[in-house]
Amino acid sequence: MTAPLASVDLPAPVLTASGCAAAGRELDPFLDLTELGAVVTKSIMLEPRSGRATPRMAETPSGMLNSIGLQGPGVASFLAHDLPWLRERGARAVVSVAGGSVDEYAALAERVGGEEGVTALEVNISCPNVESRGQVFACDPAAAASVLSAVRRRTPARVPVLAKLSPDVTDIVEVARACVDAGADGLSMINTLLGMVIDTDTLRPALAGVTGGLSGPAVRPVAVRCVWQVRAALPDVPILGMGGVRTGLDALQLVLAGADAVSVGTATFNDPSAPLRVQRELRQALAERGFARFTDAVGAAHHQLPRRRAEGVPA
Ligand SMILES: Cc1cc2nc3c(=O)[nH]c(=O)nc-3n(C[C@H](O)[C@H](O)[C@H](O)COP(=O)(O)O)c2cc1C
Repeated sequence: MTAPLASVDLPAPVLTASGCAAAGRELDPFLDLTELGAVVTKSIMLEPRSGRATPRMAETPSGMLNSIGLQGPGVASFLAHDLPWLRERGARAVVSVAGGSVDEYAALAERVGGEEGVTALEVNISCPNVESRGQVFACDPAAAASVLSAVRRRTPARVPVLAKLSPDVTDIVEVARACVDAGADGLSMINTLLGMVIDTDTLRPALAGVTGGLSGPAVRPVAVRCVWQVRAALPDVPILGMGGVRTGLDALQLVLAGADAVSVGTATFNDPSAPLRVQRELRQALAERGFARFTDAVGAAHHQLPRRRAEGVPA
């Protein structure tokens, strides 16, 4: 099941999602990381960060809210410990980078992009833009473009740069197009949706940070819609799809909508073997539906249906 994604040929189409398995070490006892398409690391920033105050997780009926706030050891520690570990294991690393300014993204790209074992960079533009007083880069096409253009310029040409988009925008196609025009080689979508839970006993917001990012099965239809819209508008742009994937059939929905590969995030908390299980289930689902190759299924829901089925007439 090889999966071409931008200029790299991933040997498998399922990846981890950023932030849900750190740099892969926690998953190692449960699955063979080399069997995955790649490990997408937790977004790294230049300096170590402790993240936002607790409580910073809340359950919802079909998903979870998190306001971790990009906790992490910073890029120096990542390069000293995490990347070498992934390399030794033989796992491919898609490194997620995040910053509060265009310069921070650029500096990260310069530090990380050329390192051995970096399969691609995923640029998390869904965090607040300090330069614009808290606005999120991914919510503004011009701000998103300036980050992607700075990262693309400082990353070796052989390393694809993926822009990670937020669904919390009026027109995701507009942001996607701005990123691609600025040099992004592909798009990752979706990041979490901004949500909020109020504790009806304490009468206060459940998260110390008040709002958080919603992920899990609840967001899957939003992810399928975003992938569909962007695939329809930009059919040649590679897409890494994610959002609420728990089973092979969930992944298949994203693939049929136009995802060239799929990341599994929240499902991993409940089942650490989920990324590999999803990959096995996806392979079976494709075979059952007569797809000879994984790539034949990518975007297949956009193709013209045979006339009788399109009209809703039973065959
Ligand atoms: C606890 C948690 C932490 C996350 N941290 C990051 C992060 O550091 N960078 C990022 O780009 N996305 C982060 N995400 C978003 C996921 O990568 C993914 O885009 C989103 O959760 C949707 O996929 P899912 O429903 O399979 O989790 C995080 C999600 C969760 C649940």
